[in-house]
Amino acid sequence: MSSTNKSNKDVSAHESVGSHSVPVEAIKRKNLERLIARFAELSEDGPGVTRLAYSHLERQAHQVFADEMAALGLVVKVDAAGNSIAELPATESLLKAGLGTGSHLDSVPSGGRFDGIAGVCAAIETARVAIASAPVRRRPWRFVAFAAEEGARFGQACSGSRMVAGLTRTPDLARLEDKNGVSMAQAMSEVGLNPDAVSEARWEADDWLAFIELHIEQGNVLESHDIAIGVVDTISGSSRLLIELSGVASHTGGTPMHLRRDALAAAAECVLLCEKIANDEEHHGTRITVGRLDVDPGSITTIPGHVALTVDVRDFDHQRQRDTTRQLVQAFEAVVGRRGVGMRVSILGDTSPVVLPTSITNVIARSAAQNGLNYRVMASGASHDAQQITRTTSTGMIFVPSWNGLSHVPQEYTSFDDLARGTEVLISALLMLDGCDNLSQTSSAESAQ
Ligand code: GLV
Ligand code: MN
Ligand code: MN
Repeated sequence: MSSTNKSNKDVSAHESVGSHSVPVEAIKRKNLERLIARFAELSEDGPGVTRLAYSHLERQAHQVFADEMAALGLVVKVDAAGNSIAELPATESLLKAGLGTGSHLDSVPSGGRFDGIAGVCAAIETARVAIASAPVRRRPWRFVAFAAEEGARFGQACSGSRMVAGLTRTPDLARLEDKNGVSMAQAMSEVGLNPDAVSEARWEADDWLAFIELHIEQGNVLESHDIAIGVVDTISGSSRLLIELSGVASHTGGTPMHLRRDALAAAAECVLLCEKIANDEEHHGTRITVGRLDVDPGSITTIPGHVALTVDVRDFDHQRQRDTTRQLVQAFEAVVGRRGVGMRVSILGDTSPVVLPTSITNVIARSAAQNGLNYRVMASGASHDAQQITRTTSTGMIFVPSWNGLSHVPQEYTSFDDLARGTEVLISALLMLDGCDNLSQTSSAESAQ
């Protein structure tokens, strides 16, 4: 798979980026390959990679990140939320506001090797290249591995970065539970973190100029159009619900059809309502998914008495996202009322869509162009740590192609050439920002090229 389109063939990438470049050869594809393989080893038994939020395996992956940083001479600090951060000091000037890059190291159950990990590997490679090939840096550069980005275990996505942004606080950690009833607070304590101290993980806006997250696209826009780089301008919002339905469990042979209060039959109607509402004309662009259905007692000869299902509503329009969520709950109420089934609704997560600032998207686009790579400005349908970090500092995202658009599955793949190209764009963009006294200069920095 190749997504390169070095159409400007008479100018090499290195020559074209002037002072904001590092030699393309400086980025070692082999390093990226080694790092991806190293992190993939830290998984529960297959298929794919299972390294859930606030598990021992996730913490082992953070230790690998710390070891890689230590090999480069950098010290990693782990904050109370479990995020790992290493700082490379400026070589010149005392500009306090730093530049950051990174992503997350946890995975969904049976996920892939690249979601989040690609951005952490790009950050490690960026640190190496910055030390080796960018001897003049006016700002501190920070490399970050966020904890607990996937909502797969506790429902809430981006918990580590939400704590950094002050959006998830200590009282929330007792409320969020996994499917075994383990709270996020308990899980954090079990891996040696202190859930009572997460307010200390907050970042101060004054410490930051900008943050850029590299991530796999998790869709097939880039691959299908043979585009190397996605410049993300918007990140979708997501509202997540846990719906618990209580009917009456009883004998499948002895109970006539008209006397049943079957929780699974009610759930089935709810699932189809989700699909119907997401497909109606007013919801163009809304995505609604029931991804988990726990049926109790789960026996062939017992009517299901209790069902828990998760609903994930994604939208780029925050008003429609919330209206749709309310509409769904009302529609479910009608279903369970008619069937004599009880319903409890809990909100697991509620994140608004964000628009990323043009001061950063312009820099990333310019960086791609200067590296001779074609790019597309595009929206992200998935949630990302960048979405939370934008509360603290100006944030951008670089997408690299996903093979067949697949993600959250073992087949998830991004070629190492594509990942190396994304890393080139990331490093050039950081260098460009490093050269600016403030973000209002990003447009003049571009025109100066
Ligand atoms: C993160 O992977 C998400 O669920 O969007
Ligand atoms: Mn991710
Ligand atoms: Mn993910």
